[in-house]
Order: sequence, then structure tokens, then C-alpha cells
Amino acid sequence: MTLEIQMFQNVPSGGRWLLQPLTIFLLFALADRQTADLPKAVVKLEPPWIQVLKDDSVTLKCEGTHNPGNYSTQWLHNGSSLWSQVRPNYTFKATVNDSGEYRCRLEQNVLSDPVQLEVIADWLLLQTPQLVFEEGETIILRCHSWKSRPLNRITLYQNGKAVKYRRFNCSFSISKANHSHSGDYHCTGFLGERREVSRSLTITVQGSADATVISLLWYHVTFCLVMFLLFAVDTGLYFYLRRNLQTPVEDWRKSLSVKKRQAPEGK
Ligand SMILES: *[C@@H]1O[C@H](CO)[C@@H](O)[C@H](O)[C@H]1NC(C)=O
Ligand SMILES: *[C@@H]1O[C@H](CO)[C@@H](O)[C@H](O)[C@H]1NC(C)=O
Ligand SMILES: *[C@@H]1O[C@H](CO)[C@@H](O)[C@H](O)[C@H]1NC(C)=O
Ligand SMILES: *[C@@H]1O[C@H](CO)[C@@H](O)[C@H](O)[C@H]1NC(C)=O
Ligand SMILES: *[C@@H]1O[C@H](CO)[C@@H](O)[C@H](O)[C@H]1NC(C)=O
Ligand SMILES: *[C@@H]1O[C@H](CO)[C@@H](O)[C@H](O)[C@H]1NC(C)=O
Repeated sequence: MTLEIQMFQNVPSGGRWLLQPLTIFLLFALADRQTADLPKAVVKLEPPWIQVLKDDSVTLKCEGTHNPGNYSTQWLHNGSSLWSQVRPNYTFKATVNDSGEYRCRLEQNVLSDPVQLEVIADWLLLQTPQLVFEEGETIILRCHSWKSRPLNRITLYQNGKAVKYRRFNCSFSISKANHSHSGDYHCTGFLGERREVSRSLTITVQGSADATVISLLWYHVTFCLVMFLLFAVDTGLYFYLRRNLQTPVEDWRKSLSVKKRQAPEGK
């Protein structure tokens, strides 16, 4: 990048306009690095489910750097401070009003990204730690009953089609997920003799992180190539124009000096 800037600075007038987008691009890259240097707190859910049933016990954990012995923590729920919570572990029995967005901050840390928790009043709930998975990851789902009442004959449905059945175990895992595993999921199960149906949730499986990195790299390579091409064309054009514009002037100067030299001889 420094090399490119030096190249641009050596270009008189013609290539200057190219410097501006490049500078903006560099500033963005620098700003990116600076925010990445500050430690950011992270909210973790325990158990990891982002949807829970009413009366489930939920623990929110705030992780990040802190002074030894000082666990002073700030919790935010829907943007408002929870003044009574000053510990990094925040455990509660869920009510519907506990739904919403949680953020935390340990001393010295930047406020965490938000974590969404949804508390649902129902008999049955299909739980997951996240809604978006990368290709190749393992999708974990759990068919959970209110107050963990004994559940049996559990079926997992994807887009309305039964895909897995368990006599007693209510956990499902799909290893090496690919795009075909994206879709709407729900579960059914028997509480005694009564069949209950969970609401559905939408799972998305997206291209792997490697693909993202590679596409980002290609974006940068293409960007540099285009910049170089523009620079080359522009510089070429500049020198071409300069030569063509100066030719008549130089011809005139040459003819003038010839005349001057010839003048005394002509006398
Ligand atoms: C938070 O919970 C974990 C276990 O779940 C425990 O090891 C840790 O000591 C707790 N931290 C505090 C500050 O209570
Ligand atoms: C939830 O919030 C609403 C409105 O703020 C309130 O009326 C209700 O009593 C709350 N419910 C519980 C279980 O705290
Ligand atoms: C927080 O927001 C969620 C939805 O955005 C809402 O269901 C919940 O009742 C809110 N709770 C409080 C205490 O504001
Ligand atoms: C712990 O850190 C907080 C926030 O930086 C500070 O206000 C508090 O005084 C510290 N407590 C102790 C005991 O050092
Ligand atoms: C239930 O199924 C999960 C995932 O399929 C498995 O890891 C777990 O060991 C099973 N539990 C029992 C008690 O069989
Ligand atoms: C996705 O995974 C399933 C089994 O888990 C496999 O049968 C299918 O061929 C895979 N599809 C692709 C496009 O890789």
C-alpha cells in the first residue's frame, strides 16, 4: 500500500484523483484494526439455548478481561441497566418479560455485542444455540418440555417432513451440516398420552468461513488490480496528451531558433 502511495505521489496532476479513494480505503482499514485491539466482553448463555420455556433456569455469563479479584459487572437488558446485577454470573428463573436483548461490560472492556433471549410460555419447545450455522458444523437441537416433564416418542420435522425419531432422548444432532439442512424445524412429543407440537424455528446453513475469507481476499486482489490498471491507463494518457500538446510548441521553438541562427547569415 505504501508503495502504491509513493507511486501516486510521483504522478503530476493526472493520477492525483486516484489517491482519494485509496486514502479512504486505507483509513477504513486502520479504523478496523483499532477497534479490534480493544477487549470486548462476551455474553454466554448457560445452557446455550437462545429460546427457553417459562420457569427454565437461565444463567448469563459475562466473559472478558478484568483485574484479579474485581468482578464488577454491568448488565443491560433491552438497553436499560440492571443495577441489582453486579456479578459476571446472572442466574434467574425465566419469565416472559426476561425476553429481549442482553449486553454486559466487565471493567476495562468494551460493551459486549447483544445476545437475544426468547422466553416462551408453551408445553414444548425446540431449542438451538444459534439460528445460523456454518457449513460443516454440527447443528444441535433439543425438544424441551415445560418443567422438563417426561417426554417420549419424540419426532423432529424439517419443512413439515419427519426426519428423526427418538423413543426417549430429546436431543438431536446433525453433523457436517450443508445447505440441504437449512429450513423450518419443529418437534412433536408425548407428555403422557397427550401429543404436543412445538412452534417452528428457521435454521440457516451458510457457506463455510474459509469461503468467506477467500472471497474477501479476491475482493482485495481485484481492488488492487483495478487500481493499478486505472493508474497505468491514466499515466499513459497523461504522457500521451503531454507529448501531443507540446509537439506544435516545440516545433515552433525549433523553427524560431533556426530562424534566429539563420538571420545573421542572411544579412
Ligand atoms: C460463575 O459460574 C461458574 C460455574 O458455572 C463458576 O465456576 C464461577 O466461579 C462463577 N463465578 C462467579 C463470579 O460467581
Ligand atoms: C411483564 O411486564 C408487564 C408490563 O411491563 C407487566 O404488566 C407484567 O406484570 C410483567 N409480568 C411479569 C411476570 O413480570
Ligand atoms: C424486552 O424486549 C422484549 C422484546 O423486544 C420484550 O418481549 C420484553 O418484555 C422486554 N422486557 C423488558 C423488561 O423490557
Ligand atoms: C472494580 O472496578 C470498577 C470499575 O472499573 C471500579 O469502579 C471499582 O472501584 C473496582 N473495585 C475494586 C474493589 O477495585
Ligand atoms: C441423546 O442423544 C444425543 C445426541 O444424539 C447423545 O449425545 C446423547 O448421548 C443421548 N443421550 C442418551 C441418554 O442416550
Ligand atoms: C448434505 O448432507 C447429506 C447428509 O447429511 C448428504 O446426503 C447430502 O448429499 C449432502 N449434500 C451436499 C450438497 O453435500
